Amino acid sequence: MSSIPMPLNGKVTAFLNQHAPEEIRRTVEQARKRDTLAGSYPYDRWMNKSDYQDALTPLQFELAKLQHWLAETQQRVIVIFEGRDTAGKSGAINRITEVTNPRTVRVEALPKPTDRQLREWFFQRYVERLPAGGEMVLFDRSWYNRAVIEHVFGFCTPEQRARFFQQVPEFERMLVGDGVHLVKIWLNVSRAEQLRRLLAREGNPMRHWKLSRIDIEGLGKWDSYTHAIAQTFERTHTTHAPWTVIRAEDKYRARLAVLLHLLGTLPYALKEPANIPAPDPNICGTPAIWDA
Ligand code: ADP
Ligand code: MLT
Repeated sequence: MSSIPMPLNGKVTAFLNQHAPEEIRRTVEQARKRDTLAGSYPYDRWMNKSDYQDALTPLQFELAKLQHWLAETQQRVIVIFEGRDTAGKSGAINRITEVTNPRTVRVEALPKPTDRQLREWFFQRYVERLPAGGEMVLFDRSWYNRAVIEHVFGFCTPEQRARFFQQVPEFERMLVGDGVHLVKIWLNVSRAEQLRRLLAREGNPMRHWKLSRIDIEGLGKWDSYTHAIAQTFERTHTTHAPWTVIRAEDKYRARLAVLLHLLGTLPYALKEPANIPAPDPNICGTPAIWDA
């Protein structure tokens, strides 16, 4: 039987053993041994799966109404999912798309820019993907690549990044001013939990594809990411387009918080407020709760 190629096998373990700070390495090892949450988090156990599923069902029911409202009233919605590698962006997105029509609710996860795109206005390739009336677009990473990942990896110049920071509040103001609903979500994951997740991907043939060269090279760039993220919040947490930070060490709690925030924010018809309590304030809030 042929096996699945796993070109990055061993790279996360090697980083952990050779380069991770001692304290982080111990935290990861303990968490793996005891199967508890790694790092500091308001809870030390994961949410139980059946409690999660019980909480998820009414929220997905509300999503069906949200989808109906989109189509009926021709609203446009953009939801940006940002966060470090492994933060759980795609998992949160999947909880939405598994119960919605792909024609109404679409995911955009743009690959690296082509040669032509590199010669365009930075926002141009994102503009092509914006929603028309009746659509909600979920961005799995977004124009904020320029603020964080492109900066950390040197894929853009400091001048290009400075221009991005100058233009992004105006760009988002134009969208919101035109009636687009814009929701910006930052999923936060601790260093130890990120390593725990990457170790799990490394050793699993079915999940190995989720491990990218950027993930591996990014392991040594934690502090540089931290700095870039802090600057991003400073420059782009605006009144017209605020960030919502969700602490995502526990994927279940994070996914519920994403849905609660989205449903709580969007003014769809037939909303059942009893189904949508405020998200857990211990894990969901403004960038003030962000914990590098
Ligand atoms: P993901 O973590 O989203 O599964 P990757 O780790 O492979 O995917 O890449 C992270 C992000 O970095 C993606 O949005 C990708 O488009 C972007 N990226 C990768 N290489 C480049 C590059 N050379 N220039 C600009 N962006 C890049
Ligand atoms: C995530 O899970 O946050 C991303 O979608 C995948 C990644 O970790 O690179």
